[in-house]
Amino acid sequence: MKIEALKDLVAILSIEEKVGQLVQLTGDFFDSNNDVIETGPMKKIGFQKNKYELAHTGSLLNVVDAEEIYKIQKKYLENSKHKIPLLFMADIIYGYKTIFPIPLAQSGSWNFPLIEKSAKVIAKECYDAGIHVTFSPMVDLVRDPRWGRVLESPGEDPLLAKQYAKSMVRGIQGMQGDQISENHIAACVKHFAAYGAPQAGLEYGAVELSTDSLQNYYLPSYKAAIDADVKLVMTAFNTLNGIPCTGNKWLNKDILRETFNFTGLLISDYAAIEELKIHGFTENDQESAQLAFESSVDIDMKTSVYANHLPDLAKKDTRIMKLLDEAVLRVLQLKNALGLFEDPYRGLSELSNSHSVLSDKHKEVSQTLAEESIVLLKNKDILPIDENKKIALVGPYVDEPSALGFWAITGETKDTITLKAGLDSIKEEMKWKVQVAKGSNILEESDIESYAKYASAMSVDEKPKQQLLEEAIEIAKESNIVVMCLGESIYQSGEGGSRTTPVLPDEQVKLLKEIKKLGKQIVLIVYAGRPLILDNVIDDVSAVLYAWFPGTMGGYALANLLSGKVNPSGKLAMTMPRSIGQIPIFYNTYSSGRPIVENNPNHRFASRYLDEKNTPLYCFGYGLSYTEFEYSGFEIDKESMTEQDEIRVSIKVRNVGEKQGKEIVQLYLHDVAARVVRPIKELKDFKKITLNPHEERRIDFKITIDMLKYYNSNEEWASEPGKFEVIIGKDSNDQRFKGSFILED
Ligand code: GLC
Repeated sequence: MKIEALKDLVAILSIEEKVGQLVQLTGDFFDSNNDVIETGPMKKIGFQKNKYELAHTGSLLNVVDAEEIYKIQKKYLENSKHKIPLLFMADIIYGYKTIFPIPLAQSGSWNFPLIEKSAKVIAKECYDAGIHVTFSPMVDLVRDPRWGRVLESPGEDPLLAKQYAKSMVRGIQGMQGDQISENHIAACVKHFAAYGAPQAGLEYGAVELSTDSLQNYYLPSYKAAIDADVKLVMTAFNTLNGIPCTGNKWLNKDILRETFNFTGLLISDYAAIEELKIHGFTENDQESAQLAFESSVDIDMKTSVYANHLPDLAKKDTRIMKLLDEAVLRVLQLKNALGLFEDPYRGLSELSNSHSVLSDKHKEVSQTLAEESIVLLKNKDILPIDENKKIALVGPYVDEPSALGFWAITGETKDTITLKAGLDSIKEEMKWKVQVAKGSNILEESDIESYAKYASAMSVDEKPKQQLLEEAIEIAKESNIVVMCLGESIYQSGEGGSRTTPVLPDEQVKLLKEIKKLGKQIVLIVYAGRPLILDNVIDDVSAVLYAWFPGTMGGYALANLLSGKVNPSGKLAMTMPRSIGQIPIFYNTYSSGRPIVENNPNHRFASRYLDEKNTPLYCFGYGLSYTEFEYSGFEIDKESMTEQDEIRVSIKVRNVGEKQGKEIVQLYLHDVAARVVRPIKELKDFKKITLNPHEERRIDFKITIDMLKYYNSNEEWASEPGKFEVIIGKDSNDQRFKGSFILED
């Protein structure tokens, strides 16, 4: 449809019909007979009597089955006066049926073209299921692993977060002009803004950020999604400096709409408009409707606030009426960009089943991404495991199908390739003898009860604890090497998953300590949705592979890494703390006026702890390989640059081992003196390269003026003349190769 036709359609809608387009409900409002709905969900959500007609609804949330979508759309259109199709939106964060590693893992692959491919797979599987919008990517920058939703985040670094945002939006939307092409759907970047910085890592906690922090670290990833033409933005639950994001006019109008020039749809998070009064931001729902709508929130997810109050507000105030027309036009424009007016089913047939789900091609993308996301943190000459070994596979994750992570809501655990299945697939070829014993459950009974609603997805072995332990000890005694696969439950992470003590469950630490007594070498594989504190086990093991929640193909990916068929290349996208007391800990910190100095490390009056090191257990950008990469020959081609030119820096990297490997070469800058102090180092570029044994390559980087700009106290992005340090290294801690240059005035 042409924009004029859309405007004509808006013009003929009643106010109630217009408001209906801004209401998002769940499928239960549409999947049974009317009186059940009246007394059920309609009553529960609080629609005022005779104030709302379901036939006016604009979109549904989390209806994800092709046949159900077809059935609801068909029945809806039969009752629709203006034949405006429903939009179907869902939380397909990192996979529909082919589940990928959690985003925090994916970002650690530093392979954004591959991430874009995974997004195309997500889009295709959603497209075939009739889903129109996915509430992905989540790009909230994170620095606090106590927060459960770090699993969904691209991590602590603005550059990686921007790359992730852009890759996901492009992969999901596959834009061709204004239309969203076939096999693609609309993306929704979230949560706007800075939901990843709750005080004390407490879920839904208040966010208090300076302008410097907000503009230089937390907002850029949302902007990257908007610059990639993301069609929707979702508000965040939290307050930002005392004002809830969902009613925050400065954030949503001044920043999002005007500064970031976002012209798409702003949707609230789940019930967030209704929560404005609970925040203490409004007295009642009518105020909430007014302030959210005036802040430019278009769609009210799953409450009756807009339905009950916007019609009267619009009738009383021509300004609101005008805003209402604009918001409804944005909804219709999205439906139009998806081609829904021409084909409300977007290719869905009555009996369509998604043929693309879990295709070999899709599974291959997931497995490769898992292989490149898993991080080798420690390896005392034990990995890869040689042929002819007797392996004891021990731990609650040995054959655990729930290793898909909290937000794999449409993934099916029956499809998960577990670690045991992975090893079974190669043990013949490797001449391995593999024995398996759980050794313990993921959680203690009491914890399992507290997760009762979710625990069904976790497998629980009813055998007595002592028996489980003895079985594990038995097979470990007979082995050459013990591979222990431990981890937090998927329900100790994700939304509502904040933990004050992000560690391995006690039950599992006890198991490891018992196995350790046997004197066998232990390879530890960690399943988690966050960096866990490993200080109580790290010295007991010879190697650590950090698997995160590796997705549907995790077992095969881990088998390939354990056997050396694939060489690990992942590098941490989020710092791993040494202890809880260090949190939040991240690489791009400020110097302070009294940093620890090498020649006096124990100076009392320095920025240090009395009872802990400042350094993390493993730093941002850290990850090992089965080969070694030697860096040499750092070069910088000029001592100074102007705003108009660039500086070239380079380094030679040689693979000095006997295995091909991938290395992520990282470029950091430090603006030595700025009127708003800059971090001691900031990632500005990186190259992921593949080198054959003994191959050497010179890796070039260009330093451009944009890399030197920051959001300053004059509220502008600008650079300042002066000295910059350049560091090229294998991780954020690598200080071996550095130079400097002057940005001329
Ligand atoms: C949830 C999450 C959000 C999700 C939405 C819809 O509470 O905060 O990320 O997209 O509700 O399920």
